[in-house]
Amino acid sequence: MQPYTPKQIVQALDKYVIGQHEAKKAVAIALRNRWRRQQVPVELQDEIAPKNIIMIGPTGVGKTEIARRLAKLSQAPFLKVEASKYTEVGYVGRDVESMIRDLTELAVNMIKQEEKQSVQQRAQEVAEERLLDLLLPPAPGRADEEPLRPSDEAGEGPVATEGRKDTREKIRRFLKEGRLDERFVELEVADQKIPVVEIFSGSGMEEMDVQIKDMFGNLFPKKRKRRKVKVPEAMEILVQEEAQRLIDMDRVVKDALDRVQHSGIIFLDELDKVAGREHAHGPDVSREGVQRDLLPIVEGSNVNTKYGMVRTDHILFIAAGAFHVTKPSDLIPELQGRFPIRVELNSLTADDFVRILTEPENALVLQYVEMMKTEGVELEIDLMAIRRIADLSQEVNSRTEDIGARRLYTVMERLLEDISFEAPERSGERIVIDAAYVDGKLDELVKDQDLSRYIL
Ligand SMILES: Nc1ncnc2c1ncn2[C@@H]1O[C@H](COP(=O)(O)OP(=O)(O)OP(=O)(O)O)[C@@H](O)[C@H]1O
Ligand SMILES: [Mg+2]
Repeated sequence: MQPYTPKQIVQALDKYVIGQHEAKKAVAIALRNRWRRQQVPVELQDEIAPKNIIMIGPTGVGKTEIARRLAKLSQAPFLKVEASKYTEVGYVGRDVESMIRDLTELAVNMIKQEEKQSVQQRAQEVAEERLLDLLLPPAPGRADEEPLRPSDEAGEGPVATEGRKDTREKIRRFLKEGRLDERFVELEVADQKIPVVEIFSGSGMEEMDVQIKDMFGNLFPKKRKRRKVKVPEAMEILVQEEAQRLIDMDRVVKDALDRVQHSGIIFLDELDKVAGREHAHGPDVSREGVQRDLLPIVEGSNVNTKYGMVRTDHILFIAAGAFHVTKPSDLIPELQGRFPIRVELNSLTADDFVRILTEPENALVLQYVEMMKTEGVELEIDLMAIRRIADLSQEVNSRTEDIGARRLYTVMERLLEDISFEAPERSGERIVIDAAYVDGKLDELVKDQDLSRYIL
């Protein structure tokens, strides 16, 4: 299930997130521990609780990014939620259990997708036969769906059957060679339109929402309607249909529940916003209340979902927050105990910015270069320019507000605004951005504190 070693996980994260080694290490160990737990004797498995993590750090330094990349890597059902979104039962908002329901839904889709891949080959084969049936309606005796045209009826002996076989193979060949791509066939497709019912789900209402949708699904059986489509599209529709048919939904659900319970990860963002133990005055919902609601889920309880009970004991929680105003020690003690691992992420420096601009596989500079390429413009941002961009971004961060790497986005956008605007007319050109260009565009702005507050 989890073939990556902690080192490999950190390496993979390094491709996208610069620095923050401590945090990477912590999540890597946590992820590996899921796998380890599943290898120990069964009697012990239940005893081993996940070591939940709190990532502490200022805004825009990579907390969410680490979690997001980890999710992709782990192939585990992964859900990101904002703690501040949840409120006490009885207040308007989403109840905390809904995160488990969402995660389960996600796992079901995930396994369904995997299953689909594994039956793809088989679905393809069956779909091809069905498509051939449509292109060449079957001979009598086999004909149960397609009505025969009168001309087919006369004298269909064994010879003719042989002939049909040949024809079928010929059509199969044509089909594979794409020679029938422009042909139309008529086929029955499921009409997915279920009457739209909007339900505003407040706390506790979500299961109801689900049930009503299911109810309507049964009340209005899927209508089927005939459509004329081109051969390639028909093939796609048939493959989809066959894949659907080949998937064993009972097993999918069973596997999904299993996976949620043993390898599910919930990223609980903005935990600092619900830290605090004061009781609320006024319309605010008490933060402590939200924590109390979170507690059973983090500690381990059973949550009812439409696929069945989900035990949350072994779901991994990774929390994050700036914790500027509040501290982890402002969380209620029970919750503190449930997040034993704390890692701090560092503020980013100008040197980090240089690396963030250029090193990650999705580096910002790379993105702009590729975007301009689509316009036929060859954009180059030289090293000195990148240094300037990093320094200026750092300067704005320290003068106004430190928003971390997010500053690079606004600065880059401003820097390249004109080029971006004129690119279509400058097709074929090579544009080199050097330090002087950066200064020309940005220096004024950076110096003027009021201006930079608005623009950068
Ligand atoms: N260390 C880093 N390396 C590469 N990119 C980074 C790094 N830190 C931040 N970024 C980029 O900056 C953006 C914001 O980062 P992210 O969403 O991780 O912030 P955050 O730490 O979760 O902040 P917040 O507390 O506001 O949620 C992302 O697009 C991310 O790619
Ligand atoms: Mg974030």
